[in-house]
Amino acid sequence: MSRFVRPHILRMEGYVPGEQPQGGKFIKLNTNENPYPPSAAVARAVQAVLERGLQRYPDPLATAFRQRAADLLGLHPDWILCGNGSDELLTIVTRALLAEGDRLRLPYPSYILYHTLAEIQGAAAEEVWFAADWSLPPAFAAAAERLKLVFLPNPNSPSGTVLPPESVLELARALPCPLVLDEAYVDFASSNCLELVRECDNVVVTRSLSKSYALAGLRFGYLIARPDLVHELIKVKDSYNCDALSIAAATAALDDQAWLARTRAAIIATRERMAAELRRLGFEVAESQANFVWATHATRPVQPLYEGLKAQGVLVRYMNYPGWGDGLRISVGTDSQVDTCLGLLRDLL
Ligand SMILES: Cc1ncc(COP(=O)(O)O)c(C=O)c1O
Repeated sequence: MSRFVRPHILRMEGYVPGEQPQGGKFIKLNTNENPYPPSAAVARAVQAVLERGLQRYPDPLATAFRQRAADLLGLHPDWILCGNGSDELLTIVTRALLAEGDRLRLPYPSYILYHTLAEIQGAAAEEVWFAADWSLPPAFAAAAERLKLVFLPNPNSPSGTVLPPESVLELARALPCPLVLDEAYVDFASSNCLELVRECDNVVVTRSLSKSYALAGLRFGYLIARPDLVHELIKVKDSYNCDALSIAAATAALDDQAWLARTRAAIIATRERMAAELRRLGFEVAESQANFVWATHATRPVQPLYEGLKAQGVLVRYMNYPGWGDGLRISVGTDSQVDTCLGLLRDLL
């Protein structure tokens, strides 16, 4: 029946997420998950919902979460929209803002999903290359015909690098269209751009509970934008896009800021140690402010290293960006997971 499918969907390859082996015992450092279990409050919140029962539909707007997030961020809840992972929020924004033939701008290399979202709309994805130091050239801020949306992950993936709020502010002011700052990894960074949502009328921020709150399996994210935009995005989302278990769990996770502070500190300490050790092994490692590092090697091909690690039960992400080059994106695990990975790399080199 594929002949009934829209031609541009037929031409697409589709987004391929990182490997998620369902069996076997891997040390999993390939999809930037948090290696620590989430706050104990999460399981208690899920249990409480199960005891009440699941026969009723959930709150369509996840009001409990919105209220808590609003308190935490110093905003009114009307500025917040919840989603089934921040990926869903990126999808909702794209569906609301991009028509066939429009243009979506994204940096390269960055999160490959943005490209896929543009393709689904039948829109053009315009990639602007990062400079070698992971700064963005002026072309990223330039006006262009039918430019309707710009995505910027900050911290970026795969590099983990961050553009400072002052540069992002300049960019937002120069752009003639909405700028979505994807802050999926921002809890591991030393700055964020939340203030820009208030300061500029074209900035949207998306955040995730997958990484910093250790809830990738739950699927919960939220978006921060001006209420008039949130109002329009609500029309585009599924009525019940977040289920009752995830709303309760995410709200409980957000409430445990002491857990977040401890886990963030542990991951940042391991990240710094891991980056230093990789450099000692001869890798070039970008200055990461995320829960992963991007490692390239000037003299050794890295794909065999990925394969060698996998053969010994350690999964990292091998990324090859056409025209840019390849590298290993290695998530920050526990100290012992990272030590295993580093030890194997030492042997493989
Ligand atoms: C830059 C970036 N944005 C968003 C996401 C998606 O996060 P979520 O699990 O909240 O959908 C990822 C996941 O890897 C990511 O790397």
